[in-house]
Amino acid sequence: MEPPPMDPEVATSRSRIAILGAGSVGSAIALCLILNPVASEVLLVDPNTAQRDAQVKDLEDATTYHGAVGGGGVRIRAGTHKEAGQCDIVVISAGAKQRHGETRTALLGRNLAILKSATNDMKPFSKHTVILLVANPVDILTYFCQKFSGLPQQQVIGSGTFLDTARLRGILAEKVGVDASSVDAYVLGEHGESQMWVKVAWSCVTVGAMPLDRCLPPGTDIDRKAIALETKDKAAKIIEAKGATAYGIGALSAAICKSILFDQRIVRPISHWIEDLGCCLSLPVILGRKGIVRSLSMPLNKEERDLLVKSADALKELIAEAQD
Ligand code: 2OP
Repeated sequence: MEPPPMDPEVATSRSRIAILGAGSVGSAIALCLILNPVASEVLLVDPNTAQRDAQVKDLEDATTYHGAVGGGGVRIRAGTHKEAGQCDIVVISAGAKQRHGETRTALLGRNLAILKSATNDMKPFSKHTVILLVANPVDILTYFCQKFSGLPQQQVIGSGTFLDTARLRGILAEKVGVDASSVDAYVLGEHGESQMWVKVAWSCVTVGAMPLDRCLPPGTDIDRKAIALETKDKAAKIIEAKGATAYGIGALSAAICKSILFDQRIVRPISHWIEDLGCCLSLPVILGRKGIVRSLSMPLNKEERDLLVKSADALKELIAEAQD
């Protein structure tokens, strides 16, 4: 029998989240966890101790006026890798960031080495730790972190296409003229370049449980290809103009932490091990206290299924190269 869902107040008062990487993404995640508290303590871990300590000091100021800015009693402090291995959740944002014009997969060599050493430094893990990969290329790093950590596969997951899905829902919501929470739509597969094969599961898009076309304002039509490209290119446009993305992934990582710690059983597209595709990529899952409760099988049409397989093949090739 599954245990009953955790009382949110009990979860908040006892839980600890470690964030590896005190750069712009790690600190954005920490800020979201301070303003929307889900754990009593947030640990920032980074070998660059000057940067880490400065971020901690800056974030501390956001915790001061609990009621006024929402700090809610969260304690932020510097932590070690060993402490991180004992936390309820470890969010891994450590690693090189994409530069303008660079692909996410170009980061693989650099970020794999960082991941391997950070994962070893965290050992031994608490058997309850859930690891959330955020650094890129997120699907490949999730695969390797499952191997390096030795934790059960369902406890090592990646933010995957949750961010692409949020971007897609935002664009569709604007076209239809509804709140994004009424749009049910998913980007599946790799969070990365094979998105150019457009992995929006169009056959499953609904608005208020109705097919998308029925909900469009009278006389309007949508260009699916253009919307998929706009979704895919949003990160590159942000990186071109300001050098990095941080707030979107910060807010969504905090939301994933909440789903896990409160055992919310929310359905999200999350990167995880998929047995019949032989790699980690995003499909909708139910998220709970132990990470992936269950992977859901979407009723994709043949074309969509083929795109997913293509996405998996591209990832497996990169994994094989990295293993050489
Ligand atoms: C993003 O999509 C760069 O993967 C990061 O925002």
